[in-house]
Amino acid sequence: MMGKGKNMKQDFLNALERAQQEKNMSIDEMMILLSAQEGEETGALFSLANKIRHKYVGEEVHLRGLLEISNYCTRNCLYCGLRLDNQPLVRYRMTEEEIIDTAYRAEHHGFKTIVLQSGEDPYYSTDMLEKMIAKIKKETDLVVTLSLGEKDREDYKRFREAGANRYLLKHEIMNPLIFKKLKPDSLWRERIQCIAWLRELGYEVGSGCMVGLPGQSLSDLAQDILFMKRMNVDMVGIGPFIPHAQTPLKDEKMGDLTLTLKAVAVSRIVLKDINMPATTAIETIHPEGRKRALEAGANVLMPNISPVENRKHYEIYPNKAALDLEEAKKLINALGRKVGQGHGNRMKRN
Ligand code: 5AD
Ligand code: SF4
Repeated sequence: MMGKGKNMKQDFLNALERAQQEKNMSIDEMMILLSAQEGEETGALFSLANKIRHKYVGEEVHLRGLLEISNYCTRNCLYCGLRLDNQPLVRYRMTEEEIIDTAYRAEHHGFKTIVLQSGEDPYYSTDMLEKMIAKIKKETDLVVTLSLGEKDREDYKRFREAGANRYLLKHEIMNPLIFKKLKPDSLWRERIQCIAWLRELGYEVGSGCMVGLPGQSLSDLAQDILFMKRMNVDMVGIGPFIPHAQTPLKDEKMGDLTLTLKAVAVSRIVLKDINMPATTAIETIHPEGRKRALEAGANVLMPNISPVENRKHYEIYPNKAALDLEEAKKLINALGRKVGQGHGNRMKRN
């Protein structure tokens, strides 16, 4: 590593060298990597993340079928288009039958995992969800991932007992002051508690954050990554913040593509054997966003399997990029990688 890269700064080279030796990264070192200058430095950072991805999770890119079951939400996160106060948004909710039908179709198309995602919508009772999960588990070989927000421990427990395997609950931002401001009706402590419960209950747990939220510093971002390392999460989802016109953050700046890719790369370097999607949000801000994330440490794609008529209403942020199964496979092949054949569980190597 040393000797090469005459245009790279010494502190960057030192941090990169330690990353390459798979040393534990300090906050300062993560910040140095996150500050990589676009060009030679980012090139070296992404290439190291790609190597570590190859070493720990191989060439397979796992496909998860994303089903957005409802866009109702009782919360008012300042950044999100599904927030309760976004009155003009057309709301929809899928019925139990539609959800189960879609699961059958997803399996038929070759998906191994289905992700049931929604705003925080109390319409679906614990009983209903439990029944749906049990039915999908009984009649298909799908891994069931839930992404339904904050719940009581007892609810998580019942879903788990009904057969749910994984749960996605992004911490969104570690900085408690920004969290409080942007998620006014959520408590940081409670959200972290939810993540801890999910772990205890034996889920594979996914967390993640947004990049470029108003007020978020590089040190905050490093803390986000360190937090996920400490929680030993199994999956990490990272995307840029994208301002939505019908939210209070409409005039804020969008998250930066390069910084988002650097956060993806540093997450891979620090967390090693996790599963990490190239997120829709990255593709939304750049036409090659997904491809570039897959080359900077990501190893998962999440094609949308929601009924087409619903998709435009699941407007977390504007112009959300769509991905269908065929496109996903094409992208994987174009990169010389392989479509994941198994369930794509976390392969713990240490
Ligand atoms: N830009 C980018 N991502 C967003 N999310 C919500 N709003 C935005 C936005 N404006 C993400 C959050 C949340 C999920 C619903 O989508 O990370 O977990
Ligand atoms: Fe609801 Fe989640 Fe959007 Fe917050 S981020 S408003 S909880 S859907």
